Amino acid sequence: MVKPDLKVRIGALELKNPVTMASGTFGSSGEEYKGLIDLSSLGAIVTKSITLKAREGNPPPRLVETPSGMLNSIGIQNDGVDSFIKDKLPSLGKLRTAVIVSIAGHCIEDYAALAAKLDKVKRVDALEINISCPNVKGGLEFSREPGSASEVVAAVRRSTGKPIITKLSPNVKDISEIALAAQEAGTDAVSLVNTFTGMAIDIDSRMPVLGNVVGGLSGPAIKPIALRMVWETSRKVRIPVIGIGGIMDHKDALEFIIAGASAVQVGTATFVNPAAAMEIIGGIEKYMRGKKIKNIKEMTGCLKA
Ligand SMILES: Cc1cc2nc3c(=O)[nH]c(=O)nc-3n(C[C@H](O)[C@H](O)[C@H](O)COP(=O)(O)O)c2cc1C
Repeated sequence: MVKPDLKVRIGALELKNPVTMASGTFGSSGEEYKGLIDLSSLGAIVTKSITLKAREGNPPPRLVETPSGMLNSIGIQNDGVDSFIKDKLPSLGKLRTAVIVSIAGHCIEDYAALAAKLDKVKRVDALEINISCPNVKGGLEFSREPGSASEVVAAVRRSTGKPIITKLSPNVKDISEIALAAQEAGTDAVSLVNTFTGMAIDIDSRMPVLGNVVGGLSGPAIKPIALRMVWETSRKVRIPVIGIGGIMDHKDALEFIIAGASAVQVGTATFVNPAAAMEIIGGIEKYMRGKKIKNIKEMTGCLKA
């Protein structure tokens, strides 16, 4: 059988396969993994969220393991957009994989300014608008209501001609409503989910384990909920949905694709196994060969329900 076609489309952007690295879980730009895995085999790398100015992030401890997952409260630590363009992008840009730059801000003007700046940078293939970080003050503000989500997306849309993906928070009443608002405001795709707000307590000191008190839960613990949200959302919107949440192996990834995702992002799995995403690509290909499926697009949303 000929090699299955794994190419997928996110707006005007074509990815060689649907497996991409989730923001913030792959170093700042993936460079740390260079010697460990073949970065060019990935569908795309979504970089750690960047802001206009550098951010120190939250006080430590910022990570804690939980049953079937982890809590993090990093707080978008980054060196700012100018340093990213100067120091990180040149080597990232040499890879034969799509570079999706995640942006975060405190106000609509921040998002618009970041988009306008990155619009001029050739090697940036697409932007992911992070309106869903639970770890910074006001980080969830724009993803809680359809109206405010729509305003951010519209401002970014006016500032760039590059494809945009809007990353949604699961900490809302109805995530599909926010996805619809983002679609109407001009996003090319939505990615879901970011982490679920959670906390952990040290019973001896009676102190919160995380320096920020609360953090975001990720990993296998969130997969069934994320999967349900992807299924519900993909039935409502006409744009591609990118599935995220506890994807540890190719079976998890295929569940998201069958539920309606055009592509997936791998996050926490990389902390356990740096080669997780590559193994997922191989696993999907093997599954398709076994089932004689020629094109991955046939799989998106093929749930029999
Ligand atoms: C340590 C850590 C840092 C993260 N940083 C970001 C970030 O900067 N921007 C963002 O959009 N999501 C961030 N996330 C969320 C992930 O991209 C992903 O949405 C989430 O972890 C769920 O996927 P997973 O269960 O596969 O990890 C972070 C997650 C972790 C665990």
